[in-house]
Amino acid sequence: MRIFVAGGAGYIGSCTTEYLLNHGHEVTVYDALLNGHRTAVDPRAHFIQGNLADATTLDDAIATAKPEGIIHFAAFIEVGESMKLPGKYFANNVGNGINLAEAAVKHGVRKIVFSSTAAVYGMPKNIPITEAEVKQPINAYGESKLMFEKILGWFHALKGLQYTALRYFNAAGATEKYGEDHSPETHLIPLIMQAAEGKREKISVFGTDYDTPDGTCIRDYIHVLDLAQAHLLALENHDSGAFNLGSGQGHSVKAVIDTVRAVTGKDFKVEYAERRPGDPARLISDSSAARATLGWKPQFEDIESIVASAWKWRCAHPKGYGDK
Ligand code: UFG
Repeated sequence: MRIFVAGGAGYIGSCTTEYLLNHGHEVTVYDALLNGHRTAVDPRAHFIQGNLADATTLDDAIATAKPEGIIHFAAFIEVGESMKLPGKYFANNVGNGINLAEAAVKHGVRKIVFSSTAAVYGMPKNIPITEAEVKQPINAYGESKLMFEKILGWFHALKGLQYTALRYFNAAGATEKYGEDHSPETHLIPLIMQAAEGKREKISVFGTDYDTPDGTCIRDYIHVLDLAQAHLLALENHDSGAFNLGSGQGHSVKAVIDTVRAVTGKDFKVEYAERRPGDPARLISDSSAARATLGWKPQFEDIESIVASAWKWRCAHPKGYGDK
């Protein structure tokens, strides 16, 4: 297949691009490099630097690439920032995404696979979370993703564009070549690793009084290559709808810290801090629909192997991609 990957220079986009190429597909990456890294783009992919906001460049890129499918990773992802700059999030994650859907329709592309998030559920009542759970985002980031899922639903109904929205839980881990290098970093596992590397004085645990066995928040960490697998299956085997993607296992912040200590053999300072506003106590996915309908078979279900892959990548890339 010829596949157009918007946002293919970011963390999940770069790992998915490599996965698609390894499975014999032809990939064009379209990325503005605002947060992504040029060296994170597999050299076997075609690369076009461009922003989804620039509808003309985007249209030309799709006309050149002639994709059969599009994967859309090109969004802003920081929950905290989205609460300070909601306009930035709605303009890019919703408005600019529409340019991509319009270009897909204009050029007769059959299908879009869209990076959505567990943040569409807000504070879920039922754990594990199925796709039927009430969707009530508690931050502008989650709302922007839910809005774009709905927009894709309308493009499907009115223009016949197929779409799969993949609601990721906590993406983690790395491939041999590509990994997580955000600036600033806000995600738990890379932050703990910075402490293990001595690049950060300590790791702060945000809240110890949650209604969980050890009082810290529980999340469902899913390996980036398992996410990549689901994107290809969605392009190949599915018409339209949304799926949760998680391992189905919950790990507390304290448990993740212990795992990083065990995997890296390093010790570091841990500070017990106040809750971070907007954190649900527990997010665990029920991903049985993705398994049954897409034929998704995650390969890395234990947190140790996820953390070990991330650590291996960091040891091989101590400065990350070194460009930001
Ligand atoms: N945490 C800490 N200390 C830190 C950073 C995080 O204790 O320094 C805690 C958080 O409070 C949370 C957990 O670690 O309980 C995971 O936090 P992350 O920031 O790594 O991830 P989130 O669960 O907040 O969010 C991630 C993605 C979102 C996505 C969500 C879906 O960043 O885009 O998963 O589950 F929507």
